Amino acid sequence: MIEIYLTEWLSILMRWLHLIAGIAWVGASLHFIWLDNSLEEPEDEDKESGVKGSLWSIHGGGIYNFRKYELAPPVWPRLLHWSKWEAYSTWITGTLLMIAVYYFQATTYLVGPGKWLQDPIAAVLGSVVFITSGVFIYEGLIRSPLRHYSRLFALILIVFVALQCWLSTKLFSDRASFLHVGALLGTIMAGNVFLGIIPTQKRFVDAVQNGREPDARGAALAKQRSTHNNYFTLPVLFCMVSNHAPFIYGHPHNWLILISILAIVAYARHFFNLRHRGIIDYRILIFSIAAFLGLATWLAYEQFKPFEESPREIVFSNPVDVTEVHRIFKVHCQVCHAAEPTHPGFVAPPAGVLMDDPAIYRKSASQILTAISTGYMPLGNVTGMTQIEREQVIYWLEQEIQSEVGG
Ligand code: HEC
Repeated sequence: MIEIYLTEWLSILMRWLHLIAGIAWVGASLHFIWLDNSLEEPEDEDKESGVKGSLWSIHGGGIYNFRKYELAPPVWPRLLHWSKWEAYSTWITGTLLMIAVYYFQATTYLVGPGKWLQDPIAAVLGSVVFITSGVFIYEGLIRSPLRHYSRLFALILIVFVALQCWLSTKLFSDRASFLHVGALLGTIMAGNVFLGIIPTQKRFVDAVQNGREPDARGAALAKQRSTHNNYFTLPVLFCMVSNHAPFIYGHPHNWLILISILAIVAYARHFFNLRHRGIIDYRILIFSIAAFLGLATWLAYEQFKPFEESPREIVFSNPVDVTEVHRIFKVHCQVCHAAEPTHPGFVAPPAGVLMDDPAIYRKSASQILTAISTGYMPLGNVTGMTQIEREQVIYWLEQEIQSEVGG
């Protein structure tokens, strides 16, 4: 029991720290992008000392003056702040969180019904290999001559990410699969900082301080890595928060939905990147919004299809009434969803959902319907709910919801 309690603490603390570090990382990136794009023509005396652009801003009651140099300031600063620990600490806390939730509790969260990896140890190894091999492939690509063909390279990256989305949903539970795509892209991003951007900056500083010409090729490569990070940011954040959207990750075509959403989000980012360069192309934004609405409509259609038809004519061997449904919930849900769960690994009802009183589950019928019809619950089908039982519960819940809507 004590280790469950410790795991719960570890996961909430890591989640919290991960969020803080992630905000610092993404916040700093967005701030520097904004700075870069908002720089104004410097004043004359500044220009003489090599200032490329400057900007005034007010924040927290203080006035700030930022300057960006063509190359380096005439006098080297006593202290130069580097932005790297935001990235590293986000990655470290994310990795610890992954271990606390998905590796320590692999049977519950990482292994999923019908997935290729059924053994918890195999699933943990699969997770490590999935992420490390993905990073190796990316590093191989970005260090190859292919990177000089930027359009082809972008296409290869898109195909690579799409394949990983598909693969992830085959290997891991639905919830874990979206998270793994996020973890892979996040690791690639942290790798870009650690393996590419920071070493280049070190060489740059070294060259300038020793009066040598900085290496332009290295700078171009670092820029390319930073551009990839820019496009990955919003998709990664989507993957991380998708944990709260079982209606998306529990969908039978979840891999396709994930690919579409990541593509739409990255494409919308393109609008803002172009706008920063002074190119305003609203078609990109309109297309992104239209694609998103199309996707949402398709999902809604699938989701609500049963309600448009009359209740399905299914012949069950025993009547589907509240007594029968209650029996099914008792066997298949209450081990976890009770005030005092008996299933190992739980100290409180998960997601605060209690399944022991008809008055309560009648109220949250549609939430339960989503959880059951997507196959998300019972988690990993650990309680071995049969397809017939699932159909019975769905049938009953649909009738409940209809009578609720009807009167
Ligand atoms: C092995 C334990 C376990 C069993 C058995 C189980 N659940 Fe869950 N359930 C969970 C966990 C863990 C969560 C929280 C998951 C998350 O945060 O994504 C959850 C979340 C839910 C949610 C909330 C999902 C949402 O909308 O965010 C619903 C509804 C639910 N379960 C219904 C059921 C029903 C109905 C059954 C039985 C058919 C069931 N569960 C069986 C562990 C279990």
